[in-house]
Amino acid sequence: MTTGGRSGLAIVGGGKIGEALLAGLVRQADASGPGPGDIVVVERSGQRAAELTDRYGVAAADLAGAAGRVRVLLLAVKPQDIDTLLGLLAPHVTADHLVVSVAAGVPTRRIEALLPAGTPVVRVMPNTPALVDEGMSVLSAGTHATESHLDEAEALLAPVGRVRRVPESQQDAVTALSGSGPAYFFYLVEAMIDAGILLGLPRTLAADLIVQTALGAAVMLRDSGEHPVQLREAVTSPGGTTIAAIRELERHGVRAALIAAIEAAHDRSVALGEDR
Ligand SMILES: NC(=O)c1ccc[n+]([C@@H]2O[C@H](COP(=O)([O-])OP(=O)(O)OC[C@H]3O[C@@H](n4cnc5c(N)ncnc54)[C@H](OP(=O)(O)O)[C@@H]3O)[C@@H](O)[C@H]2O)c1
Repeated sequence: MTTGGRSGLAIVGGGKIGEALLAGLVRQADASGPGPGDIVVVERSGQRAAELTDRYGVAAADLAGAAGRVRVLLLAVKPQDIDTLLGLLAPHVTADHLVVSVAAGVPTRRIEALLPAGTPVVRVMPNTPALVDEGMSVLSAGTHATESHLDEAEALLAPVGRVRRVPESQQDAVTALSGSGPAYFFYLVEAMIDAGILLGLPRTLAADLIVQTALGAAVMLRDSGEHPVQLREAVTSPGGTTIAAIRELERHGVRAALIAAIEAAHDRSVALGEDR
């Protein structure tokens, strides 16, 4: 990660997602990515900065110090804090820097508008399973970001899960699918555990059965190469229990409800983007 004389990475905002990315990078440090010696954290709270430096063996700096030392500035602050941060950062950003933002729903044009003209910006939509190295991160290039900038951003996200690239126009759909997606699965699991309770199982047993079943089904979906319909048909025997359940799901319009829910998430993402 060296270009134009600078190298290294600053993680600006060491909260939940900032720490997850930091932990992933430090754990998987090798020749291809930055190690602890190449990483600087920037935090508002000195106490939080000290926790992160102790835990991961990285350095802490203020914005000016970090920007003077590293090439890639990874912004992991809340969307409502991003404008203030960019205002503070802008005087220290040069043509050598790459800015990577994980702030949900913040368009690259808004980031670019607050930074020096020509600054390469990559926008990322991560999701919470990044906290357990099973994230889905989706990248989009801003006006001045090249394929090689996207490669650099991808190397930062790859240690905590899978990475895909899309045109920024698809980010609202991505937000509705993988960004909010973990919540839909948590909701389904919650409802299925309730069904176990209704049938008289202890809550811990019901939770164990459903969580492991969700995990097993997810691994089959990922690894078998088969379409979800094929996998479902394989466990749906004639006159059996599964088809009785599927009939109820269809009767209650669960498929249509999921499609409408994800469409609503997309529309909300568009509306939030327009407000900003
Ligand atoms: N959590 C996720 O899994 C997830 C998923 C998708 C996208 N994201 C995106 O990731 C971003 C961070 O989310 P999060 O959940 O990690 O938030 P978080 O836990 O609140 O972390 C943000 C951190 O940034 C610090 N901060 C704010 N302004 C700063 C500044 N000017 N300089 C240095 N540090 C600053 C905050 O300090 P204070 O506590 O003092 O404010 C806080 O420690 C958000 O934009 C969110 O949309 C997160």
